[in-house]
Amino acid sequence: MAIGKNKSSEKDKVVLAYSGGLDTSVAIRWLQEKYDLDVIAVAINVGQPSSTDDIISRAKAIGAVKAEYIDAKEEFVTDFIWPSLKANAMYQNVYPLSTAIARPLIVKKLVNIAKREGAKYIAHGCTAKGNDQVRFDTGIFSLDPKLNIIAPMREWVMTREEEIEYARANDIPVIVSKKSPYSTDENLWGRSCECGILEDPWEEPPEDVWNWTASPKDAPDEPEYIEIMFEKGIPAGYNGNRKDGVTLITELNAIASKHGTGRIDHVEDRLIGIKSREIYECPAAILLITAHRGMESLTVQRDVLEFKRGVEQKYSELAYNGLWFGVLRESLDRFIDETQRFVTGTVRMKLFKGNAAVVGRRSEYSLYDEGLSTYAEGDSFDHVSAAGFIYCWSLPNRTAAKAHMKDKK
Ligand code: ARG
Repeated sequence: MAIGKNKSSEKDKVVLAYSGGLDTSVAIRWLQEKYDLDVIAVAINVGQPSSTDDIISRAKAIGAVKAEYIDAKEEFVTDFIWPSLKANAMYQNVYPLSTAIARPLIVKKLVNIAKREGAKYIAHGCTAKGNDQVRFDTGIFSLDPKLNIIAPMREWVMTREEEIEYARANDIPVIVSKKSPYSTDENLWGRSCECGILEDPWEEPPEDVWNWTASPKDAPDEPEYIEIMFEKGIPAGYNGNRKDGVTLITELNAIASKHGTGRIDHVEDRLIGIKSREIYECPAAILLITAHRGMESLTVQRDVLEFKRGVEQKYSELAYNGLWFGVLRESLDRFIDETQRFVTGTVRMKLFKGNAAVVGRRSEYSLYDEGLSTYAEGDSFDHVSAAGFIYCWSLPNRTAAKAHMKDKK
């Protein structure tokens, strides 16, 4: 059966991930014209700056049969940000995956609505060169392989100018925001920015790419200390005050931004094989991941920490590569949760001129035993045992050295 045609007289439905911007606004009309579908526009709030106008009525004015707004910030924190934090997830050790982990949440919402509305299609505004198309499509197929995907921007061959022309000709309101050479994406966990001058990897990012964070050179000359409380690996508040996740991250973004924390400049390997230059601003993410690692160093045993490093890298790759909804990520989460049982306590962080450093940590489950580590009074370590331990530890090497010495004659 052709797209859009249905046994009954009703049109087939498509659920569109709607951002309110030019691309997805044009997509509403384009999906109607090209595929004769009823469009259900869905705007999902994951903590991007709220738009000043009413994007729901805009979607309807353009022709969506239904438009829906979902505030998913809390779910984003609980089900996506906190698991990633427990995994210290950073793609290529530098990018806290802010854009990447919001995608599966958006996918989940779209698939639920498609089910509820009996829609056969989901549409999104991703282009053909990025990771996000992979995350959307793979996520959707992982949750419901019977759904079909339409990615208008992968299909149409309009330039930006032609798109604006199409919008004008079709009475689609074009909110031409302040012309920016950059392509950006924002949510609670961070801001991504690419294109423009950044496409030259030799060029230092000009100040205008940074939108959240103060320049470290203009940051306060006095450091700020902040105490992050953790419970089983999850931040529960700071400076003695308990906070819900959304409030905590929002406030820490503001505090850390002031000190220029969380600026990242990275040449990144996209899944589809392209290297791209990206800059990120992830003030709360960098602050919390650094603090979380500090809490783990005090409360988690060496063998677990070492094994977990490998798990963290795999976890980051799965999230980056669009495999969030899969048995491996879910299984790694079970392992990681088990490692977090005693990651409870407080970490003191010092924010200063772009830096976020751990300067203190304490926990009721601390594995740090001053009696064992001290070189001063109160030493409880059995010095005599050291020589016996080293006898066994070095035995293989001594045995080998003796055997190999014969060679050298
Ligand atoms: N490269 C990052 C990722 O794949 C961020 C992409 C965000 N998009 C943007 N328009 N800057 O997760």
